[in-house]
Amino acid sequence: MKPQIAPSLMCSDFRRVEDEIALFERRGLEYLHLDIMDGHFVPNITMGPPIVQAVAAMTSLTLDMHLMVSGPDGIIPPLAVPGSPIIAVHVEANPHLDRTLRLIRSSGGRPGVAINPATPVAMLEPVLDEVDLVLVMTVNPGFSGQELAPYTVDKIAQVKRLLEARGRNILIEVDGNTSFDNIRRMVDAGANMIVAGTSCLYREGIGLEQALGELERFLEGL
Ligand code: DX5
Ligand code: ZN
Repeated sequence: MKPQIAPSLMCSDFRRVEDEIALFERRGLEYLHLDIMDGHFVPNITMGPPIVQAVAAMTSLTLDMHLMVSGPDGIIPPLAVPGSPIIAVHVEANPHLDRTLRLIRSSGGRPGVAINPATPVAMLEPVLDEVDLVLVMTVNPGFSGQELAPYTVDKIAQVKRLLEARGRNILIEVDGNTSFDNIRRMVDAGANMIVAGTSCLYREGIGLEQALGELERFLEGL
């Protein structure tokens, strides 16, 4: 299966965000990645429920929300949007992960779990049967344009093995420095969903449409 591309909305040109999203729809993409940060779990603040609701109203793409939020339960009901969005929460952000995953499901979302570079994959094991997506961070979350933490590529393979042992064929998403070279290694390790940020899609000196075409051709050639 060709890996899914999930463009990272925080990298978009907000002066023309509606046109950029329309491009993704025309090209048949399925997902749009939204980074929700609280300035506490990560040292940055991006978007919250009002922006998420505005984006949901302008697109039929499935929203793929990545919550970098400490104690995220309170923010999950206001993130409910039509169309079964993915809502991924960090394993490090919450001592009551099981409760949060159930809350996402009961709010109409598809639960996902995200893991930071330095957190062992074993932390995910108890919930692997409860999620529709595992998001492996390949940089420290919070900012675009960072260097890859190289040891995270092996973590993708570890996640893949654990899922296979359970007979689970779900989304394994990678987020951070997804350059073409890195994507090749990430996909080889088992990633099937790529967060497309500044390293492969929103690139300096090249238009978004052209960059998307290059990325699509690259993925087809893998
Ligand atoms: C935060 C974002 C960023 C970013 C990824 O989770 O999703 O990680 O846009 O893309 P790069 O690292 O290529 O800018
Ligand atoms: Zn993200």
